[in-house]
Amino acid sequence: MTQNARAFDHWIRNEFVEINNQLEDIYWQQEDKANVENIGEDLKLQLTKQGNELIKPLVNEGNTDEGFDAAFDLLGNVGLYMAACRRHEITEPSREQTSPLVDASTLAMHIGASIGVAPRFATAHLCTHNQAINGKYKRFTDLDAEKTFVDYNSKGILAYKRAADALLKILPLGISHPVTFDLLNVAKQALQDVLNSNTALFQKLDKDAFFYTVRPYYKPYRVGTQVYRGANAGDFAGINVIDLLLGLCMANETSYSQMLVDKFLFMMPEDQKILRDCMRRTSLMDEFLNTKEQHASSWYQENLALFLEVCELHGETAKQHHNHLVKKYIAQPSTQMMQQHLDKVTASGPPLHVLLKSLEQLRDRRAAAKRDDINTRFEDIKTLKALLK
Ligand code: HEM
Repeated sequence: MTQNARAFDHWIRNEFVEINNQLEDIYWQQEDKANVENIGEDLKLQLTKQGNELIKPLVNEGNTDEGFDAAFDLLGNVGLYMAACRRHEITEPSREQTSPLVDASTLAMHIGASIGVAPRFATAHLCTHNQAINGKYKRFTDLDAEKTFVDYNSKGILAYKRAADALLKILPLGISHPVTFDLLNVAKQALQDVLNSNTALFQKLDKDAFFYTVRPYYKPYRVGTQVYRGANAGDFAGINVIDLLLGLCMANETSYSQMLVDKFLFMMPEDQKILRDCMRRTSLMDEFLNTKEQHASSWYQENLALFLEVCELHGETAKQHHNHLVKKYIAQPSTQMMQQHLDKVTASGPPLHVLLKSLEQLRDRRAAAKRDDINTRFEDIKTLKALLK
């Protein structure tokens, strides 16, 4: 890390958090907790100026060729700063044509383009690639709700990744290999871990604190002229690797592939590669369907039974995400929110009902639910279940 990058990192881990804490405290005291206008103006100015002064020398320094990790980390720091400015409405994409944070935009675009990711902070910056120093990793604030949210997002993501890794290892072995049974068991355990960790999150995370003091940092913001959608816990390849390899979702379906296309640059480059490779593979479900004449064999019976359990669990995690997490922390509080703030609720930009509809479709694909309007694997799962003795 260069000296300038180190100074900026130190600020992000200390004064930046302090200013955000103070602003959150002021907003929280109001009757309309979602209001950020004409309040804490001196703190907002301090945040803008201090950040900008540290970013300027980094723009002048240019590409110092410190390697991918350092570049990605610096992009995360600029991104946290820009997202905080957006949260406090120091910038507001619908008000501006181009980001007023010129130096931060320049640095973010330079780094993003050179390492092949979107020029904004992504989930990886907070969850899977966030170095803790003396037990403390980077966050926007010191609030308990934010720590709980990030901790459990990280646990959920890592568990999904474990399931995805196990399923990927089945590809070169095939569904009839004896070790495939062990790998399916690893995937099963990992999905059970997702369920357990999301249950703990649901119990621990305070609804209002999340909605008013955490979620606003995940809004879309402008970098240069373009608006980039907010980060969400789904911005890693594993979740889609599971969808595609199990066969519950298909890459040749418009709404699903649209989501994949849109999320590529929000993932780490290694994840982009994994997902691209996975999009051209035959799913395990199709492999079982293609070999159903062998269903009397013991390998078929054992591996299919476990495969169906893994599918079931994947559906359970999707139902839990939509019916519990999204409902409690986004949908319900949004209905109580004052009308003037409603258009700013989601991280990805589309109106809430559009977002909820697309998440509902994802849930039903993953759960192989019976639906007439979209393709799900309801019938295929039924066929496979009927082959079990
Ligand atoms: C308070 C907790 C959570 C809430 C309120 C929540 C809400 C949401 C919302 C609203 C989206 C749509 C994207 C957007 O807003 O732009 C989303 C996407 C996503 N979230 Fe969460 N989420 C939570 C926690 C988690 C956790 C712990 C995981 C586990 C890794 C997770 C996995 C995903 C995935 C994979 C997506 C991408 C869409 C998909 O493939 O299903 N979320 N989440």
